Amino acid sequence: MSKSDSGKWFNESRFGMFIHWGAYSVAARCEWVMNRELIGKEEYTQKYVDNWHAEKYDPSAWAELARESGMGYMVLTTRHHDGFALWDSKVNKWNAARLGPKRDLVAPYVDAARKAGLKVGLYYSPASWTHPDYPGPFCRDWPNDKEWKSEAARKRFVEYYRSELRELMTGYGKIDYLWFDGCIPGDLEGKETLKMVKKLQPGMLVNDRLGKPFDVQCSEQAIKPAEPGQNWEACLTLNGSWGYHAGDTRWKGPVDVVDMLLTCAQSAGNLLLNIGPKADGTVPEKSVKILREAGKWIVRHRECISNSERHPFSWGCTARPITAKGNRVYLHFINDPCGSFCWAEVKNKVLSAKLFNTGTPIDFRQNGGRLIIDKIPHPLQDSPATTIVLELDGKPEALTGQTTFWIPE
Ligand code: GLC
Repeated sequence: MSKSDSGKWFNESRFGMFIHWGAYSVAARCEWVMNRELIGKEEYTQKYVDNWHAEKYDPSAWAELARESGMGYMVLTTRHHDGFALWDSKVNKWNAARLGPKRDLVAPYVDAARKAGLKVGLYYSPASWTHPDYPGPFCRDWPNDKEWKSEAARKRFVEYYRSELRELMTGYGKIDYLWFDGCIPGDLEGKETLKMVKKLQPGMLVNDRLGKPFDVQCSEQAIKPAEPGQNWEACLTLNGSWGYHAGDTRWKGPVDVVDMLLTCAQSAGNLLLNIGPKADGTVPEKSVKILREAGKWIVRHRECISNSERHPFSWGCTARPITAKGNRVYLHFINDPCGSFCWAEVKNKVLSAKLFNTGTPIDFRQNGGRLIIDKIPHPLQDSPATTIVLELDGKPEALTGQTTFWIPE
């Protein structure tokens, strides 16, 4: 399978669901609680693992929500930095099949995603705060690579995390995406590991957090397009937390979701948007509401998002973001142009302009570099954005070249 074939689904999807779920969901203060509150393994087990029952765990409901939101894939935290495995691991006895939920949580997830026609992603963090060879469970952020107890300890740790990965790569059928997190401490012999996982799962994509070679470049809590030709993805939270946080009410709205997705899509990148299910397995109501609302729009506008291509147009005052594919340009109006719109960006001849949703042609004229559309329904008829699709006489070309965007400090 060629590289481009294996990545095809990724660009088709553009939108995926990140799921942070673990024993930390019982604590309800996000996934770093062990480290930030100096909680030892025993105390963590008693307080959180033993009280984690996942009694309403129904991954088909997650998959359904992903589909309703217009997503094409899901990525579940199979093991986060706390070191607690969500699957029936033979090499890590501190796992969900033996303790807490008392069942393998990964298998039904993979099944549910596949049944819903979604691509299957597994998040895996090599870091493990509870492994005896891990150098810095309670250090601020990450230990550095000089902090291994010994070379033998490092070697053992490498062997250990690889053996976990081997289980994940061989026990659950086809995996489409392996999402590595926190590759620190360094010197995890990532190159060899990547070779191993690719051999076990040919065609699977991997992100960039275990080093090179990778398929997907990631940015976290920020949208940072990669160089042209490189698949990329921005991962963001729906409130301010990855793992469930009962007190975090700083929610983004449906309009932010649509805006973030289009901002990724306009540079040919993906949005991996997070939910943090509660300990029982249900998704916080607020997340469901926001995703469903955004999803209604996204599902109707898949054409403007799926396989979107980079385009040469710069930012505008009103139509923003703008996506493109082939000879088509999609102007997304989140801000209301209040009836009339001028775009001094396009060099091509515009062959037609239509309201995307209804297909109704809309009057336009081109005049010395300006495209003017002045009968846009006001107020806008669609929410969170109203889209106008332009058919150009060729691949999009911009009137002006890229210049440096200078922001004073
Ligand atoms: C950061 C956090 C981690 C989270 C990840 C998602 O690396 O440390 O908890 O899972 O972001 O990208």
